[in-house]
Amino acid sequence: MSQETSPIIRLADYKPTPYAIDKVDLDFDLTPEATLVAATLAISPRAGTFGEPLVLNGDELTLVRVAIDGRDLSEDEYEASPSQLTIKVPPNGAFRLEMTTRLDPAANTKLMGLYRSSGTWCTQCEAEGFRRITYYYDRPDVLSVFTVKITAPKTEAPILLSNGNPVSSGDLDDGKHFAVWHDPWPKPSYLFALVAGDLDALEDDFTTMNGRKVKLAVYVEKGNAPKAAYAMDSLKRSMKWDEDVFGREYDLDVFNVVAVSDFNMGAMENKGLNVFNDKYVLADPEIATDADYAGIEAVIAHEYFHNWTGDRITCRDWFQLCLKEGLTVFRDQEFSSDMRSRAVKRISDARLLRSQQFPEDGGPLAHPVRPEQYKEINNFYTATVYEKGAEVIRMLKTLIGGDAFARGMDLYFSRHDGEAATIEQFIACFAEASGRDLEPFMVWYREAGTPIVTVEESWDEASHRFTLTLTQETPATPGQQTKKPRVIPVRFGLVGPDGGDMQPSGIAGAEVNGDTLILTQPSHTVTFEGLASRPVPSLFRGFSAPVKVRQSLSSADLIFLLANDTDSFNRWQAGTTLAMTALVKATQQVRAGQAPSFELAPIDALGSLLDDTALDAAFKALLIAVPSENDVAREVAENVDPDAVATAHQAYRRTIADRLGARLKAIVEADGAAAGQPYVPDAAGAGRRSLANTALDLLSITGSQEIMALVRRRFETATNMTDRMAALTILVHRGDAGAEAALASFFERFGNVPLVVDKWLSAQASAPLANTLDKVLALTQHPAFSFGNPNRVRALVGAFATSNPTQFGRADGKGFGFVSNIISRLDATNPQLAARLLVTFRSWRSYEPKRRAQAETALRSIQIKEQLSRDVADILERTLA
Ligand code: PHE
Ligand code: ZN
Repeated sequence: MSQETSPIIRLADYKPTPYAIDKVDLDFDLTPEATLVAATLAISPRAGTFGEPLVLNGDELTLVRVAIDGRDLSEDEYEASPSQLTIKVPPNGAFRLEMTTRLDPAANTKLMGLYRSSGTWCTQCEAEGFRRITYYYDRPDVLSVFTVKITAPKTEAPILLSNGNPVSSGDLDDGKHFAVWHDPWPKPSYLFALVAGDLDALEDDFTTMNGRKVKLAVYVEKGNAPKAAYAMDSLKRSMKWDEDVFGREYDLDVFNVVAVSDFNMGAMENKGLNVFNDKYVLADPEIATDADYAGIEAVIAHEYFHNWTGDRITCRDWFQLCLKEGLTVFRDQEFSSDMRSRAVKRISDARLLRSQQFPEDGGPLAHPVRPEQYKEINNFYTATVYEKGAEVIRMLKTLIGGDAFARGMDLYFSRHDGEAATIEQFIACFAEASGRDLEPFMVWYREAGTPIVTVEESWDEASHRFTLTLTQETPATPGQQTKKPRVIPVRFGLVGPDGGDMQPSGIAGAEVNGDTLILTQPSHTVTFEGLASRPVPSLFRGFSAPVKVRQSLSSADLIFLLANDTDSFNRWQAGTTLAMTALVKATQQVRAGQAPSFELAPIDALGSLLDDTALDAAFKALLIAVPSENDVAREVAENVDPDAVATAHQAYRRTIADRLGARLKAIVEADGAAAGQPYVPDAAGAGRRSLANTALDLLSITGSQEIMALVRRRFETATNMTDRMAALTILVHRGDAGAEAALASFFERFGNVPLVVDKWLSAQASAPLANTLDKVLALTQHPAFSFGNPNRVRALVGAFATSNPTQFGRADGKGFGFVSNIISRLDATNPQLAARLLVTFRSWRSYEPKRRAQAETALRSIQIKEQLSRDVADILERTLA
């Protein structure tokens, strides 16, 4: 293994560079075989710099020429390796450094730097990809003004794009042409982008609040422009929303989005030229589900919002990644809430946090929202930095209130515009705006781990006093044994017998801010005076803090909250707590060799909610969605046997299907009647489909012939991908006799649409069936599959590892072995993708001993390999530690 040799980068070691790069001119000569990049950097020493060597980053670079102020350097004046260029004695004062590098984009399978995707030249530079293009101070605190000239064969690449505004273009000899782009806004290298190819565009425009007319374009592969319509619509709504809600206006004459089919991540916020995984651009009702539409809307918004939170104000160093990511996720969550249903969005986000971030925070890869060290920065684009980072911003807003939060944002934008900032600088703006000391709040950034808040209550009938004791504790995480108490905002209500909130005459024991208790100590005993009867406490309304709550409310109390809480989130939470309690108990029964048994009252309560015409369909769908097997395994936490979880889960769904069968059928029938209307990907339609498909999925657990015939019919007659895919997944997952025929007809129809092939692969990979692993192995040989394309790999292998707990977690270890083999194989071509797949092993220590041993064997088989990438070595080392 190579990991011993990779150094640890520490926040504490931060130092500015000795030189500034004031201007960058890049000249790309693109040919299919080789690309020449001529870079001219205007460099000046920073104050205090005297004759220090200039040391620039590189990665797999070939240097062709290096000159200073027009004079080629002799060999003793510099040292060049693929990973570094050192100018031993730079001139005193400002100088011009010219470098030419030769690249082979076609051979670049890491998809970092300049590479080719379906014939298009494109770049990905965050975090450290620019150094694969030319030698540079490839770090976010070196801001420079870029001018880029691109030359390419005209037929192969009629479209030539880079950051900023177009300056000039024209034809050259030999069938070539060129374009020059200039970005007036100083930026770090990670925001550089170039795209050259034969693409179609969907064009539009947007006039900003101060009258700037911006040309918008979404570039896609030939023939796909109509499928960019929803992305374009989302972009215009995002631009308007950021003006209305954050007062942020766009700042260039053009805004371009390019969809590429080979991309490691979701999308990238390069200044004025966002590059997207085509999954987050292309949609029409034939190929995209409601979830795909919502994903496009959210990711388009996210990348657009980065223009201010990321591009105009960037990060001083990569430890500050959450400065742009947590904040931008918070902004895109708010946007989606405003576009759709706030309650539904909040529940979905809490579910995502619990399913992705909590296991990270509770396992070997736990790290603070603002980490203090790393070996490979690519491995820190995590749910902790993104999703928990957004929760921390949300708590900040809850803590200081909406008005102070808005003033703090304005202060941040005005004070740090054009800078590379830190979390401390960001938080200082809110401390100033609110007058609150936010130093105690910084624990959320500095310490890893999910706090557990234990709640105990007592009711004193005689004195009409209700008491809550709230005790917080954060478990140890790697490298952080002891934890400080955190500032935890608890939005609350005391629900009275009529379902409304009771108003106590006094509250003591914690700071209270409107409907929010603010915990700052390890334990608070909070008393509520003057209540006529015992209230049912509704705590952490709206998921007001990313914590785990241990509170033993009775089933009766939970059923009461499910029916009555004025806070939608906590209504849903009460239902989820009831379901989770039932599932964990049933899992224990199965493991003890008993038949699982369930209380019926909570299920009947769900039934009443289904009848409630005041509730919207999307919310009802969330109410009846059973926590996933992975959710249950997380709750069980140790000694997990995924087969026992699956048995309990199946029995629970069967109980619901039997108990609520008539209602569920009525829902599916009502949806069938409405399905004749044209498909609209809005929240209302998506909610209706989601409810019907969730109901159908529950019903199908009975395996009844009547229901399965209904599923087959829905598959055949579906008018949109949401319903078609839901039905196909049920057929495949239940091992229905019609599954193979359905898969074949689906592939026949959509086999030439790679994004739909992904759905076809995932449905098969996530089937909880004994023959799934064999099928997945066979699918790796399918012509529609490719190890070179990250979306295909994630759809097949990723879905198997993350969405198939019984088959990935097979008792014979073959599921683990399969995934570990793929990781070893991928590491040679795309380490980032390999490392992300490896993360699926993060909870391996929670298995029962036999599976734990199998998982460890699989992990060690990766470790045996001679040369591991830094990406995989880092995750592997931490996972096994
Ligand atoms: N900065 C991108 C985003 O959120 C994510 C990304 C990171 C993309 C690294 C590519 C590489 O929004
Ligand atoms: Zn982002």
